[in-house]
Amino acid sequence: MELDELYWFPEYKPRTETQENIYIMTMVNREPQQIIGHFVSRDKTSRTIQKLVATAVRLPELAGKRTVWYNKIRHQNKGADEMNFQGKTAVVTGGTSGIGESAARKLLEQGARVLVLGRNEEKGRALEALGNCRFLPCDVSDPQSIENACGQILADCPAPHILVNSAGMSLDGTVETLTLEQWNRIFAVNVTSVFLMCKHLIPAMRKNGYGRIVNIASTAGTVGAPGLESYAATKGAVIQLSRSMAASCAKDGVLINTVCPGGTLTPMMYSIEANGSLKEFASLFPLGRLAQPEEIANAIVFLASDEASFMVGSTVLVDGGFTCI
Ligand SMILES: NC(=O)c1ccc[n+]([C@@H]2O[C@H](COP(=O)([O-])OP(=O)(O)OC[C@H]3O[C@@H](n4cnc5c(N)ncnc54)[C@H](OP(=O)(O)O)[C@@H]3O)[C@@H](O)[C@H]2O)c1
Repeated sequence: MELDELYWFPEYKPRTETQENIYIMTMVNREPQQIIGHFVSRDKTSRTIQKLVATAVRLPELAGKRTVWYNKIRHQNKGADEMNFQGKTAVVTGGTSGIGESAARKLLEQGARVLVLGRNEEKGRALEALGNCRFLPCDVSDPQSIENACGQILADCPAPHILVNSAGMSLDGTVETLTLEQWNRIFAVNVTSVFLMCKHLIPAMRKNGYGRIVNIASTAGTVGAPGLESYAATKGAVIQLSRSMAASCAKDGVLINTVCPGGTLTPMMYSIEANGSLKEFASLFPLGRLAQPEEIANAIVFLASDEASFMVGSTVLVDGGFTCI
């Protein structure tokens, strides 16, 4: 957890082993008196409290309720409860921003060595400064650039354990308005890059008898997305590519799955904000809000872990209920 991060758990099961302090702020309804949920944080600075208040007023679970909250200090044994990536090397495309960056940071926090691919050198170098991380400049729309980066990856680590393909772009347009050039461009960035990264790295994983690949698609790959037609087509392609690769690689210990985020507050989403319709978009989600990138990264990190040992070719929707309705 970052120092000022605050997590909301409708149900929170405290861990018993002791190692480090965490604060649990339990929200209780006054009449009838019942626990509504818990905020959990690693610290209790005034900034966290401010954030708690700001978050609480927006939480649908607390709407219209007269609440009180009380504090507990509990402990958690980090080693026993968190996924452990010590000794693992993870490659993350699109690790310089948004969802990929959040996944890269979580993997680093949990002990992995992380090789981040992207074009934004400044962001890449900032991640390198965290330690145990290497930035490899790569334009995933360029097959040669991918080949060069994969050569560097395999020279650095002959058998990378984890590959997260998060690099991607969005593009507005209908079939009538899109040009062929735009169509080819988005397929190069969103689909061909996944194909090429897998093509270059799967042989080493197979040989090692171990691999975890997490491809990032989108809800737009599972339901129609009018006005985002090329984007939806690329994400549908990623899902089917992942499922087919998963079936052919599973016996060699290379487990491949897809995460489909719903609307997530990253720079990709800010283009919608510029149009002033972010609030309207958020209202389409049963949860009534968009995701933080960390909430998507949690699913990615799980699928990248040893714990996901029976997950093969799954399409994991992390969408706040968007596709339920
Ligand atoms: N945000 C959402 O609501 C949402 C919803 C569903 C699915 N997704 C998917 O989640 C993934 C991550 O998106 P995000 O929301 O985290 O967006 P983001 O913050 O804009 O990040 C996009 C990432 O892709 C990389 N990238 C884009 N084009 C590239 C290229 N030609 N070569 C190398 N890297 C490239 C960028 O790296 P550089 O800047 O370094 O080039 C950046 O790290 C994407 O596949 C996206 O389609 C996002």
